[in-house]
Amino acid sequence: MKFKNLTYAFAITLLLFNCSGGDDDLSPNPDPDPDPTSVTYNGTIKNIINNNCNSCHGSPTSNSAPMSLTTYSQVKSAVETRGLISRINNTANPMPQSGLMSQTNRNLIQQWVDQGFLEN
Ligand code: HEC
Repeated sequence: MKFKNLTYAFAITLLLFNCSGGDDDLSPNPDPDPDPTSVTYNGTIKNIINNNCNSCHGSPTSNSAPMSLTTYSQVKSAVETRGLISRINNTANPMPQSGLMSQTNRNLIQQWVDQGFLEN
């Protein structure tokens, strides 16, 4: 009888330990993205440009904007040949003209360029 009680006590202790957390680290990572830090055109950049630039750099362009920024290759090309990175960081001559975007948005675009213009 006494031994049985000890067994119960032992089993309950084991259960408590098991439920008291700490083993979460062993569960498989549910995130399907193998590299969650990569910034892609379709995942991030397209939306930033759409929200901040396409009112002028749309297709067709408006407000005298000199080029469209509505596709992956147009945005990439504007970085490579039209100084897009320097314009979005230029307080004296900013793009958009109304004022610099958030530091977060500018960092994301910089990261996208640094990571080699990932599309997807
Ligand atoms: C309100 C309209 C407007 C918005 C919004 C706007 N632009 Fe512009 N953009 C222009 C105009 C007009 C010019 C041409 C005059 C100049 O260079 O300032 C231009 C020029 C540029 C140039 C230089 C092109 C060249 O060949 O010299 C770049 C790069 C650029 N824009 C990028 C952007 C980006 C990126 C955004 C969004 C983050 C943006 N613009 C938002 C109107 C706009």
